[in-house]
Amino acid sequence: MSDFDPTDFSLADFQWNDNPDVLSPPEDFQEWKKSPGIQTAFALFEQELQGPPGARVRMRSNVDGETREVINLTSYNYLGLSTHPEVVQAAKDAADTYGLSASGSAMLSGTFDLHNEFAQKLADFKQKEAAMLFSSGLGGNMGAIQGMLQKGDVLVIDDKCHKSVVDGGTLSRAKVVSFKHNDHESLDRQLDEHGDKRCLVVVEGVYSMDGDTANLPEIVDVCNAHDVPIYLDEAHSTLMFGENGRGVGEYYGLEDEVGVSFGTLSKSFGGVGGFVCANKPLVEYMKSYASPFQFSCALPPPIVAGMMKSLEVATRDSSLRDELWDNVRYFKNNLDAMNLDLGETESQIIPIIIGSSGEMLYSMAVQAQHQGLFIQPVDFPAVDASERRFRISVSAELTKDDIDEACNIIEDVIAKPLKAAS
Ligand SMILES: Cc1ncc(COP(=O)(O)O)c(C=O)c1O
Repeated sequence: MSDFDPTDFSLADFQWNDNPDVLSPPEDFQEWKKSPGIQTAFALFEQELQGPPGARVRMRSNVDGETREVINLTSYNYLGLSTHPEVVQAAKDAADTYGLSASGSAMLSGTFDLHNEFAQKLADFKQKEAAMLFSSGLGGNMGAIQGMLQKGDVLVIDDKCHKSVVDGGTLSRAKVVSFKHNDHESLDRQLDEHGDKRCLVVVEGVYSMDGDTANLPEIVDVCNAHDVPIYLDEAHSTLMFGENGRGVGEYYGLEDEVGVSFGTLSKSFGGVGGFVCANKPLVEYMKSYASPFQFSCALPPPIVAGMMKSLEVATRDSSLRDELWDNVRYFKNNLDAMNLDLGETESQIIPIIIGSSGEMLYSMAVQAQHQGLFIQPVDFPAVDASERRFRISVSAELTKDDIDEACNIIEDVIAKPLKAAS
């Protein structure tokens, strides 16, 4: 690899480890990671935050070692609930009463009164009969899909679905096939082809790299025509979409067409964990076969109490949601005025697609950081190599001044250079 150009490679190239020693990563990976441009790219990940994931946060840069306050456009704390005083107080009170850990899996000794109360509240909120809790969102998707499917079944997923959905399919030993993003004709073809098998279709309320919503009305029509159930991952839409915040299912008036509704507690809820809502017999059945539920410690009681308060705060009126959407509109208007490519976003996730240059992506991210803006670069293979991008997570906590300042920096380090290069 002596005369290689490091920018020709990506993480997609090193997953196969040809090193005979399993304790050592591939040698060419190590060499690649040390090359100057790639080192900077890696430095932009796992940077140290030194305060809550709010609108502004102190961050120790891995690029230059400096600690500075940055405007934070990267956290999933969309409604600011992670630091909401009532949420934090509820968690503190529960820590006083129950201690920190559930100290057992839900099946054995990890189910407390708090868990049962919260699971029922989530089920009622999502208008399903029952809910089960997981200690991570990733575990929730993996566990629910593993709990439902088996060898011989087919998991039919949108090709932009999250890795946890794919991994759930692998764990279940079902065949995993994908259809073209949001394309109901492509879905129809897959269901035609696998119509002799038990199928489950998985789509996401809001897609995490693009911020667009599932094309639910057309997807529901196709699934109904084939009599195939829908699993809707509302990780990035619960508490934000729909008149009552129930998600994209509510937004499209199609909740009754969704067989299984998945949510995470790590984004708008401001905590950690996952939940799956469905009919009661299915939930009871899944509990016996979902490894991340059966063989992992249950959610910590303080988290459950905090998340129960998040649900209450976010649904007692629409104020947090209204603030979020007001910020989303304001942010988008400013970005539109710079003629940036925002893809098909319809949500609080706003991509700024810059094209194929990884070098440009990382150098812009470094400059943004120097000017006090924390904005996340997203590279291939997470997105198409021709659509490298920044991904903005808008939060209700941002003030208009924060957004104005962020947009000034975006104009300087992203919009102007892109215009000059075009
Ligand atoms: C669509 C989607 N589903 C599931 C998950 C997993 O959730 P968690 O991060 O809470 O484990 C994510 C995480 O980003 C996601 O984007």
